[in-house]
Amino acid sequence: VDTLHVHLGWGLRAVDAPLVRSTFARLAEAARRVPALRAVNVGGGLGARLQERDRPLPLETWVEALADHLAPLGVEIACEPGTFLVADAGLLVAQVAVTWDKNGTHWAGLDAGHALNVYAAHYGLPLEILHAARPLEPPSRRWSVAGNINESGDVFAQDRPLPPLAEGDLVALYPTGAYGASMASDHCLRGQPRELLEEMDGRVVVAS
Ligand SMILES: Cc1ncc(COP(=O)(O)O)c(C=O)c1O
Repeated sequence: VDTLHVHLGWGLRAVDAPLVRSTFARLAEAARRVPALRAVNVGGGLGARLQERDRPLPLETWVEALADHLAPLGVEIACEPGTFLVADAGLLVAQVAVTWDKNGTHWAGLDAGHALNVYAAHYGLPLEILHAARPLEPPSRRWSVAGNINESGDVFAQDRPLPPLAEGDLVALYPTGAYGASMASDHCLRGQPRELLEEMDGRVVVAS
């Protein structure tokens, strides 16, 4: 054995700081029993901020835990950040295909579903939703937002305060830079959207 690896999972929050510290402490304890150790790998888990109210683990807290528990080992410290690097770099733009009222709930149905972003339907993690043309308009009432897959769980948001939505409007769901396109599928043959990539110099290229 030359490397010990731990991955705490997706979505470390500020309140998880004690868990992170105790995990790194246990990793260090195990590492001290491996004479030929070259590296410890602390996996991913940083940067999970899906909604305004979310409080992800601060980078400084994570670094402090590494410095306190793993740096004294004197071996390489590897990490595998995913979300932290790319989540905020992407958003999914979808069109409101239909609106309807049912049992007192206002629904908007999009031309995108959980096949294109799995967060809400698969993990119960709703994304932020903005009216793409009027992102700063204050909410006027609560909307539930459904996807275009004929499965009851295909709901992006429930009772979300949003500005008026009409058929044809574009909405932006974000952040979708992590596990968005990479986990998208052609489930129910709904098709895949085009991916547009904005280069550092502002040029927009079609990525797929
Ligand atoms: C082993 C491992 N390392 C790193 C990551 C990346 O995690 P994150 O996106 O939370 O940084 C994952 C994601 O599931 C993982 O399974």
